[in-house]
Amino acid sequence: MKKLNVIDHWEDVSIEYQVYMQSIRQVNDAHQIERGVRPSFIIKTYGCQMNEHDSEKLTALLMQMGYRATTNIEEADIVIYNTCCVRENAELKVFGNLGALKPLKAKRPDMIIAVCGCMMQQDHVVEQIKTKYRHVDLVFGTHNLHTFPSLLHRAMRQPDILVEVWEGEKSIVEGMPVARKKSLKAFVNIMYGCNNFCAFCIVPYTRGRERSRLPKDIIAEVKMLIANGTKEIMLLGQNVNSYGLDFAEDYSFAHLLRAIDAIAGDCRIRFMTPHPKDLSADLIDCIRDLPSLCEYIHLPVQAGSNQLLKAMNRRYTRESYLEKVARLKSEVPDIAISTDIIIGFPGETDQDIDELINLINEVQYDSAFTFIYSIRQGTPAAQMTNQIDESVKHKRFDRMLKALNTMIIENNKMQVGKRYQLLVEGQTRDGKALMGRTRNNKIVNFTGDKALIGQFVEVKIDSAQNFSLFGSQILEEQVGDDD
Ligand code: SAH
Ligand code: SF4
Ligand code: F3S
Repeated sequence: MKKLNVIDHWEDVSIEYQVYMQSIRQVNDAHQIERGVRPSFIIKTYGCQMNEHDSEKLTALLMQMGYRATTNIEEADIVIYNTCCVRENAELKVFGNLGALKPLKAKRPDMIIAVCGCMMQQDHVVEQIKTKYRHVDLVFGTHNLHTFPSLLHRAMRQPDILVEVWEGEKSIVEGMPVARKKSLKAFVNIMYGCNNFCAFCIVPYTRGRERSRLPKDIIAEVKMLIANGTKEIMLLGQNVNSYGLDFAEDYSFAHLLRAIDAIAGDCRIRFMTPHPKDLSADLIDCIRDLPSLCEYIHLPVQAGSNQLLKAMNRRYTRESYLEKVARLKSEVPDIAISTDIIIGFPGETDQDIDELINLINEVQYDSAFTFIYSIRQGTPAAQMTNQIDESVKHKRFDRMLKALNTMIIENNKMQVGKRYQLLVEGQTRDGKALMGRTRNNKIVNFTGDKALIGQFVEVKIDSAQNFSLFGSQILEEQVGDDD
């Protein structure tokens, strides 16, 4: 039985919070009059684009409450760590940085230190913060981010740590203010949560069950972004193929893509992440047919052998994955494919790595994010008794990476001579050249005027140095295009 999502609107929800926002705003306005400067905040964001987007919402709320953003943590009146727990390293970084704030808090007891995000959805983390990081003032989770104004108001008035973490998801809150960082490129959440429960992954526990935003709300957001000059939109979800499964009527991700394409104009559309198990023929047709949809797909494989894929609960086989890749390549010949790979999952053998390297070479990935398996408390894989020794994990990781890099460098060399449309994103780090991205997500450096930033240009690839591509602008073609 399909269940309809509950959608709330910020203008209704926020009635409850306006009084706190106004009260904080008044104090901050007075501060500005007295001292000529507003109190400041800094948000440090860990993890994926879901967190990035949540931080953009917190930023907008703080601005509405009369704070200014700073990059100097020493002076910040509010410090927020928006945390990730997908791997142990991410958590260790947060704990390390949180520890380092202790002397600052001792010097300036009035500052507010808040921690939020995925880590806070785990009871053992909250316990650890309450006992070992007593200089923290406020803890909240992913499901109650929109209650931030009232939490901040209370945290400023209570001497003890304030902890409020909602255990599960409630409604989707539409229309929250968002302070977007970049206008050229934007993320748009199309759904929240994940129902897949891959054996290694903590995300379903920290982000709750799948909830799709209504098409009309997504379309309105996309329209607004395009009107404001956005040239590339990334549609986000943990498993975008499941979009709409929670609607009463039949409306799929492919339906949504067609509706967005109809209004996209010259704005490029990308999406992340599709799950290989339900990559439909309809979606492949969309990539082939819709002009705005880029010829690029991130298709996380995680492992190359059926025994590991089964143990990981990925619910596809090596064969079905390769079949889908073959279909993608035959329908969309210039498609680029990237992936995620985990090394060191419980029960992994050297033979699994052979099969993985084999698969990597067969697919010919354009890029890959590679991870060493990290035990996540509360996930099924954490209970498995056949964990792999750390030194073995590292050896296997190096072996896989060598094979992967050799292939990617070879692929890059094959780009020489090809022509691409680039969206010019900015300057290279040394400021000597411009960098842009092709529709199939390759980064190309070229020499050109800074005025080209934000524009589409045609380039020819002149050379490839390991992981970087260098090109030159094709000027005469541009004149032709304008005709
Ligand atoms: N929803 C996305 C990915 C979310 S997490 C998807 O299904 O593709 C991003 C990546 O982190 C995963 O694809 C996986 O490769 C990696 N990852 C997740 N849990 C991990 C763990 N416990 N150890 C190592 N890598 C992990
Ligand atoms: Fe995690 Fe799997 Fe869901 Fe991706 S699909 S978020 S890897 S459980
Ligand atoms: Fe993203 Fe990390 Fe949470 S990857 S969903 S911020 S656990």
